[in-house]
Amino acid sequence: MTDPTQIKKGLAGVVADYTAISKVNPETNSLLYRGYPVQELAATQPFEAVAYLLWNGELPDATQLAELRAAERANRALPDDVKAAIDLVPVDAHPMDEVRTALSLYGARDLAGIGSVLDASGTPAENLDRSIRLFAVLPAIVAYGQRRRRGEDLVEPREDLDYAANFLWMTFGEEADDVVVDAFNRSMILYAEHSFNASTFTARVVTSTLSDLYSAVVAAVGALKGPLHGGANEAVLHVFDEIGSADNVAPWLDEALASKRKIMGFGHRVYKRGDSRVPTMKAALDSLVAHYDRPDVAALYDALESEFVSRKGIYPNLDYPSGPAYQLIGFDTPTFTPLFVAARVTGWTAHIMEQLSANALIRPLSAYSGPDERHIDGYVPDTAAIDIAERPEEAAG
Ligand code: CMC
Repeated sequence: MTDPTQIKKGLAGVVADYTAISKVNPETNSLLYRGYPVQELAATQPFEAVAYLLWNGELPDATQLAELRAAERANRALPDDVKAAIDLVPVDAHPMDEVRTALSLYGARDLAGIGSVLDASGTPAENLDRSIRLFAVLPAIVAYGQRRRRGEDLVEPREDLDYAANFLWMTFGEEADDVVVDAFNRSMILYAEHSFNASTFTARVVTSTLSDLYSAVVAAVGALKGPLHGGANEAVLHVFDEIGSADNVAPWLDEALASKRKIMGFGHRVYKRGDSRVPTMKAALDSLVAHYDRPDVAALYDALESEFVSRKGIYPNLDYPSGPAYQLIGFDTPTFTPLFVAARVTGWTAHIMEQLSANALIRPLSAYSGPDERHIDGYVPDTAAIDIAERPEEAAG
């Protein structure tokens, strides 16, 4: 019989491994990527430099950044067969299903010719190269998805634009203003990495079996889709739509809390006194509110935050300011979580490479709570079966 105190439901409080990639410290309300506070990175770096940092452990010098940018630009275009696969996904399917499908085909075409599962996990150099290519192609996948749903054609990438500006160009077919590019760049950096969150841990579990990087990323996309994780940025906008305006917050919240609804964009498994990324993203949202002259968005945001925090003492997480920020930029609500994928793929792939560098199969135990042993009426066990049953460690699998 397992001691119930040994069971850590949801793995809450369990330290599963070391990581050198990021440090989440709820006590000091800080998040470090490779030692750098995320706020400093968001204020000073292009997303490409942060991707380099996550993968390599140091910020790039000018030459290294130029090399990464060249590799990223060379791999931006959506391959024809991946575009064709996206077109096969029903246009009213969720875009996360579209992203998952596109990445799955992208991986299969890249690994074509690798016949044996024994060769799948790849060398560090191969995996860095795969990571850069996924980072580079995801904007095309996400942007084309939104355009397709609007009945618009693919927009080809622009060689002269950096990652964030090109992402917006491919989505909207026009050059974004600097203030919009800056807010979007910051959101990508804030979303890039967050230690052993559910999708990253999923990627590490898949990697620990020595499967390939693409399989791990596709699995991570599935984990991110859920509204308790990445799907929350989309869900925040559904909440805003339901509430309508700031003066409806209190009655809406009365009803939502009476029916024990979870309010999307609030709460966090690790941070209990506020998410360290929120002030930076809120400042980016404020700049967009001013740019688009939408004080109504800020009023609703502030009203829901202050009402919910004062009633429940539960603070906003990153998805709360990023949802309305993405809406102001012009992204359709279902595209928000795919944007999170485009950012977090950097963190996922950094963790995949770290997992492979010191791998141990991730395989926890469970406490059995099903029926006691029982038997099929009339079945007479043969001797071999009895032998196995008497050696439970071999039967466990
Ligand atoms: N709305 C209402 N009540 C909440 C919320 C919320 N957003 N978050 C936590 N609570 C309550 C919860 O009902 C529970 O109350 P009680 O003890 O009375 O049953 C208590 O707080 C503890 O909550 P929990 O769900 O057991 O805590 P957790 O650490 O397992 O959950 C969470 C963390 C993120 C799943 C949860 O806060 C939640 O569901 N939030 C809404 C979804 C969301 O915004 N997710 C994004 C997470 S952060 C960014 C990301 O990963 O994308």
